[in-house]
Amino acid sequence: MKYVKIIGTGSSVPEAILSNSDLEKMVDTSDEWITSRTGIKERRIADENTAASDVAYGAAEKALKAAGVSPQELDVIIVGTITPDFIFPSTGCVLQSRLGAKKAYAFDLMAGCSGFLYTLHVAEGIIKSGGAEKILAIGVDVLSKVTDFEDRSTCILFGDGAGAAVLTASEEPGILSSILNSDGNHWDLLYVPAGGSRTPIDEEVLKSREQYIKMEGNDVFKVAVKSMESATADAIAKANVSPEDIDLFVPHQANHRILEAVRKRLNFPEEKVFANLDKYGNTSGASIPLALDEAVRQGKVKEGNLVLFAAFGAGFTWGASVVKL
Ligand code: COA
Repeated sequence: MKYVKIIGTGSSVPEAILSNSDLEKMVDTSDEWITSRTGIKERRIADENTAASDVAYGAAEKALKAAGVSPQELDVIIVGTITPDFIFPSTGCVLQSRLGAKKAYAFDLMAGCSGFLYTLHVAEGIIKSGGAEKILAIGVDVLSKVTDFEDRSTCILFGDGAGAAVLTASEEPGILSSILNSDGNHWDLLYVPAGGSRTPIDEEVLKSREQYIKMEGNDVFKVAVKSMESATADAIAKANVSPEDIDLFVPHQANHRILEAVRKRLNFPEEKVFANLDKYGNTSGASIPLALDEAVRQGKVKEGNLVLFAAFGAGFTWGASVVKL
């Protein structure tokens, strides 16, 4: 075994749609502002009974079906999320139970919007070490649960969803490169102040709304563009391919202006960039696998194609990866 290959993808989003015109009724904003600044038109929102593992389950079932793999064949389940069902146990374990994946061990991994790229890299390492044959890698987030719907600078950006990929040991090329980075010096530019061990939720927290996402959007924007650009260049070089060889760029769906800036710097034609953020907003850890699955289902990529992923998120964390499907 030389490589680790994606053999099936799946995705799932909650049914309820929150449109820009719905948001106009909730905060001082407009469809025009949101569309021109972000490219987002609507996003999906989970109801009060739906948690990360519920959305992940839908994506997992589809990915397993597409791969022709049963839950009982899985060796490992890794869930990249920043909105787990509980502080503990892991969403991976809750999902394992629901899938009946008895043989697997399961855990969560937290790397913000780069969660799925970290998940892919860790899964590749486990398979290459001989520790597993088949791994279910999931990116899921239900950011609506930690979004302040009174804060117009953040509530227009985020949405809920899940994407999944089944990975297996292979003699054929699959993951060709992974570049991962983090810079913890900026942890407080994008974070949820309360609800963890530093500041447990109490009445003071609820009054100050510290249980919700706080973000310095402008600072995040600038670093995101630079970081995604350098990581993509590094991932392309490490994979020993040239930018022209890439069939589809599937970036983290944060903001169309970030995507456009990175696309221009990489000199990619528009038709080589996959975007679905108009429908889903920024779904954090779910964004890349959700976009990949839609690209597969729409026939935008097929077996043998080269796909480039790039992500940036809280931490800061960022990375890029070149994968042969
Ligand atoms: N509707 C209307 N006006 C809004 C608004 C909204 N939803 N949100 C902010 N504004 C206002 C601001 O108050 C500000 O007004 P002022 O000039 O009177 O102070 C003005 O719009 C410009 O705000 P600014 O924050 O500079 O806008 P921006 O062009 O940077 O766009 C983001 C804001 C959030 C869209 C942008 O910074 C961004 O996308 N950042 C990256 C976010 C991200 O992707 N985070 C996750 C990383 S994974």
